[in-house]
Amino acid sequence: MSSEPESRPADWEADKYSRTATPQREWSEAVLGRLVLNGDETVVDAGCGSGNVTEDLLAKLPNGRVIGIDGSPSMVEEATSRLGDDPRTSFQCQDLTGLELEEQVDAIFSNATFHWIGDHEKLFGSLAAATRPGGQLVAQCGGRGNVAEVTAALAVVNAEQPFAGVFGEFEEPWNFAGPEETEIRLVAAGYEDVECWLEERVAHPEDPRGFFEASFLAPAREVLDDEQFTAYADRLMAELGEPTTFNYVRLNMTAKRKYENE
Ligand SMILES: C[S@@+](CC[C@H](N)C(=O)[O-])C[C@H]1O[C@@H](n2cnc3c(N)ncnc32)[C@H](O)[C@@H]1O
Repeated sequence: MSSEPESRPADWEADKYSRTATPQREWSEAVLGRLVLNGDETVVDAGCGSGNVTEDLLAKLPNGRVIGIDGSPSMVEEATSRLGDDPRTSFQCQDLTGLELEEQVDAIFSNATFHWIGDHEKLFGSLAAATRPGGQLVAQCGGRGNVAEVTAALAVVNAEQPFAGVFGEFEEPWNFAGPEETEIRLVAAGYEDVECWLEERVAHPEDPRGFFEASFLAPAREVLDDEQFTAYADRLMAELGEPTTFNYVRLNMTAKRKYENE
């Protein structure tokens, strides 16, 4: 499991994620509702994944455009095959911490992604540079205290054989930041009117095991073969008591890109 999530975005099981990520899509409705849009803007979906939420964003932009960015080739492929025929879309495989666009965009939207990125200073600097002065940032990701039961179970199982040999010393793959440090980082990156807050949510996925594997175990998928992966997922689900729900804490952020001379 990568201890440096910012070094190279992991490849994801795009199809499985698409089928199981219904809680993330449900929660994203309120986040999308915070974007102030006329319908003709160009908006980046930062960490667009398989395009589930990109589709909802696109519906708000009848005369605009969405640039979907994701670091996972499988996700970009899936999003492109779903929505790529629409001339209002384009998808690119890029690391968000070094985002390069041909033009500055009106807004950056992101759902369920920033906690996969270790260096939030670098991330926010990259997003600010890609946004026009006065443009918006509206995002939600895992925040301080998110999925505490899952991180505790990972710490136990990753210290056990045979997994300890694969993962070494356990380090959480996520960056669950709090609102206070996030506000400071956003202001330092060149944003103003910054508001960040935490919100508790409970996920009731239809397929808890599939959801667990596709959401939490994406980095493990990269380092384990099929047999090891199944044993690992079995052991974790047992450690968690075969859960049907998962407790989340979401970090919300809204901000405006500062004008240079302010
Ligand atoms: C949980 S998925 C969220 C997908 C989508 N936004 C949604 O709400 O369903 C997180 C996504 O972030 C992407 N990601 C993680 N780190 C990244 C990085 N540094 N650069 C670009 N994408 C990244 C992953 O590849 C994955 O598709």
